[in-house]
Parts: sequence; C-alpha cells; structure tokens
Amino acid sequence: MTGPLSTLILAAGEGTRMRSSTPKVLHPIAGRPLVEHAVRAAAGLDPEHLVVVVGHGREAVSAHLATVGEALGRKVGTAVQLEQNGTGHAVSCALAELPGGLTGTVIVSYGDVPLLDTETLASLLAEHTSAGNAVTVLSAVVPDPTGYGRILRDESGAVTAIVEQKDATPEQAAIGEINSGVYAFDAAVLVDGLSRLSTDNAQGELYLTDVLGIARGDELGVGTLVVDDPWLTEGVNDRVQLSVLGAELNRRIVRGWQRAGVTVTDPASTWIDAGVTLSRDVVIEPGVQLKGSTTVGEGAKVGPDSTLENVTIGAGASVVRVHGSDSEIGENASIGPFTYLRPGTKLGLKVKLGAFVETKSVDIGTGTKVPHLTYVGDATIGEYTNIGCSSVFVNYDGVHKHRTTIGSHARLGADNTFVAPVHVGDGAYSGAGTVIRQDVPPGTLAVSTGPQRNIEGWVSRRRPGTPAAEAAEAALAAKQETESTDGESPE
Ligand code: UD1
Ligand code: CA
Repeated sequence: MTGPLSTLILAAGEGTRMRSSTPKVLHPIAGRPLVEHAVRAAAGLDPEHLVVVVGHGREAVSAHLATVGEALGRKVGTAVQLEQNGTGHAVSCALAELPGGLTGTVIVSYGDVPLLDTETLASLLAEHTSAGNAVTVLSAVVPDPTGYGRILRDESGAVTAIVEQKDATPEQAAIGEINSGVYAFDAAVLVDGLSRLSTDNAQGELYLTDVLGIARGDELGVGTLVVDDPWLTEGVNDRVQLSVLGAELNRRIVRGWQRAGVTVTDPASTWIDAGVTLSRDVVIEPGVQLKGSTTVGEGAKVGPDSTLENVTIGAGASVVRVHGSDSEIGENASIGPFTYLRPGTKLGLKVKLGAFVETKSVDIGTGTKVPHLTYVGDATIGEYTNIGCSSVFVNYDGVHKHRTTIGSHARLGADNTFVAPVHVGDGAYSGAGTVIRQDVPPGTLAVSTGPQRNIEGWVSRRRPGTPAAEAAEAALAAKQETESTDGESPE
C-alpha cells in the first residue's frame, strides 16, 4: 500500500425502526453508543484520516464524536450528508472533507455495526494490499441473505459485481454470499468510480456497491475477504437487534476477562461494559453490572448483585449488593450489603460500610467504620473512627451545603446528628442521640441530651383502657404480687 490510510464510517441514516427520538447510532451496547464501537475499531488501525458521515440527529452524534476523539487523543472528523441519497453519495460527502487528489487506501464501514473489530479491519486491509486489489469487500455466507446485497461471481469464481436485493433476479437472490458493507478501496479508483455512479436502480440511489462493478469493468483487481464469524458484520436496525448484539458483545467481553484470570460465576447475569478494567483473581458473583470506566483490583470480590459505574475498587476489597457511581473504594475495604455510594465517595484502606449506609462527597480514612443505617454526606472522616448506628450528617441548611470534618480514632455514639459545618476532633467521644451543633475538641465527650425523666403512671392516667395501659397495669400487678409473696416468706 502506498499513500495514507483513510477510514470512513457511514452513519447518516435515520434508523426509523428504532422508533426513538435518539439517533440510532447513539443507542449504546456495552456502555458505548453504536457509532463509538465503529470509531474505535477504525481508530485501531491508526489511520491518517477518520471521518464519520452524519445526517439524522447530527448535532447529538457530532457532540458524542467530539468526546470520543478526545478520549482517543485523535481527530475524528465529521461530514454532513443532508439528504440520504445512498451509500455512494454518503462516501462522496466524506471524501469532500479530505484533501483533494487523495491516494492510498480508503476503508468504508458503518456506524451501526458494533461488533466489527480492528482485527477484522486489519485482515481486510492485509488481504487488499497483498492481493494488490483496487477493491476488496468483506463478505459472509449467511443462512438468510434477505435484504443484503449479493456477491456475484463469474465461472472462475472471481467477483464481478454486487446486486442489491431490490434489483436482484430470483437466481441472484438465491445467492447466500452477502455484502457486509465493509470495503477497502484504492482511493483513486473510489473517487473515479463515485463520479460514474447513476441512480438508475430500484431505489433511485447512488449505490457505493456499483463502484465494485465499475472497477471490474475497468479490469482492475476486485476481491473479497470472507468472514466466518457472522456477528462481526451484523448491523442494528431495531431494538431487538440492539439487545441481541448487546448480549453477544457482553458474552465476548466476559469470556475475555475469564481468560485473563477473572472468575465469573454466572456469565449470563453479569454485564461488563467495554470500558471496564479487571485484574487477576477478581471474583464476580451473579447479578453484577460493571459500567463505564469501573476498575477492579486484584483479588477483589464483587457481588452478588452490585451495580457500579465509574467506580475504582482496590485489591482485596469486598463489594456485596452495592449500588455505586463515580466513587473510589480502597484496598481490603468491606462494603455492603445494601450500601449506596453516590458520586464523590472516597473510601480508604480497610474502610467498612455496612447495611443501609448512603454516602456522597465523602473522604473516609483507613480503617474507619460506618457499620449501619447512616447517611454521610459532604464529610471528611479520619482514620479508625467509628460512626454509630443510625447517624445523619445534616449537610443542607435549605440553601447551602456544608461540610462536616471528623478526626481519627473518634468513637461516636448511635443516633448522632452532625449539623454542618461542624468539626469533631481526634479521639473524641459522643453519647447516644447527640446532636452535634458545635465543634467537639479532641478527647472530649459530647452529650446533648438532658437527663431522662420518668413520669410514673402516665399511661394509665392519660391513655386509660388502651392495650398499652392494660399491659402496664398487668406488669405492675405481677410485680406487686411477687414483692408481697417475697415479704411473706423470706428466705
Ligand atoms: C447496504 C449495501 C448492501 C449491503 C448492506 C449491508 C448499498 C447500495 N447496499 O445496504 O449491499 O448488503 O448495506 O448492511 O450500499 N447510509 C448513509 N447515507 C445514505 C445511506 C446509508 O449514511 O445515504 C448509512 C446508513 O446510516 C447505514 C449504512 O449506510 O449505517 C447502510 O445503509 P443501509 O440503508 O442500512 O444499507 P443498504 O443500502 O440497505
Ligand atoms: Ca442496513
């Protein structure tokens, strides 16, 4: 191959069968919009030019492509196709964005074919180059070719043309080898061929496929690379296919991690996004969804039943029935069951958060425990501190959010309320039910409840005849009985 490599991705179509206000190529599988899978596959070849043809929903699609370009650290160009006059027209729109007199190789693929990978594109390119072809098409032999363009071959088996379903004779329609819609073209042959297309066909469109017949007519080399894995070239047209391809991609991702040393107890109920990173000896129990940029450190155990998005989990941690996002869990921490980690949660080594604990914007130090039924919002807590059961960090005064800071080795009682902004020093204690409104200096015991008052007989006087009153009266009578019996026969 001489000259640069250009990759073009067609994504201007409407996708009516999705019945959605979201453009088809922005519907995600494995945590990434369809078009992002296509862009990442193409970018894997490190092409000089990468252009996506956008049309329907182009503002939203272009905005997402900008973020993908940023993530990949490369230019992802866009070309606008205002009216969808066919795949040939779409490619012309893309080429208009590239320098004139383009040479080298042009690879064309689709924005709605998410399982096509860099490896397959590289094989196509290798075949195209080694065969010295002007056009190489990725084809597949499928059980039901309905709807696809068919690959026509002469007696010698050489490819002569592609015929669309709607233009095919019954004999042609019986052919099982289909055009996947992915090609490698010699740039000059492509540019010349596009200029010679006509709309004289059943759909009145400019067919990119006709470039192949034109090249063959010019006695240029035309070939195929037949893929034997049909999933690679499968497109998404409706939400049924979206879920089918999503499940297949997930199976591939899960299998990949299993082979890399991760135990996945139940692949069918485990969903792992494409952007997730796992380490050796991670154990994933059933019902786990790992989303976004979640990473799990060596030997950590996740699940059963956890949903984690953009969460970093340290080595050796245990994360059981946790719902979390945009958070960090330290090494050997123990989180769950039934814990809710909201954005900005940072948990140090060996932190323990237990059942029905909710956190948000917190920084919790090594070895600190929040074992039960507690809300911790907008707080910094030091090391080896214990927060009592059923405590609340009151961070909102109705207008502003405020922060609570707590030192290390503090022992705070059950049912405490921390009214921010407030500071509790190192080694402080607090009694059960304390409402902490003022700073607590280091080593101080804070209590805010007064001495308890018992008003005897109140229930019988004020709630006579209720079950409570009856129970109380029976208990008091029994007590009197015991006391008088004891009095009669002392031991
Ligand atoms: C096309 C091929 C057909 C092949 C099939 C594989 C042509 C003429 N036919 O079929 O041989 O078997 O793909 O799926 O090329 N698009 C645009 N602009 C347009 C038209 C299409 O961007 O003007 C995009 C669509 O968004 C889609 C892709 O190109 O991502 C394919 O379009 P689609 O209409 O699904 O394919 P067909 O033309 O039916
Ligand atoms: Ca299609």
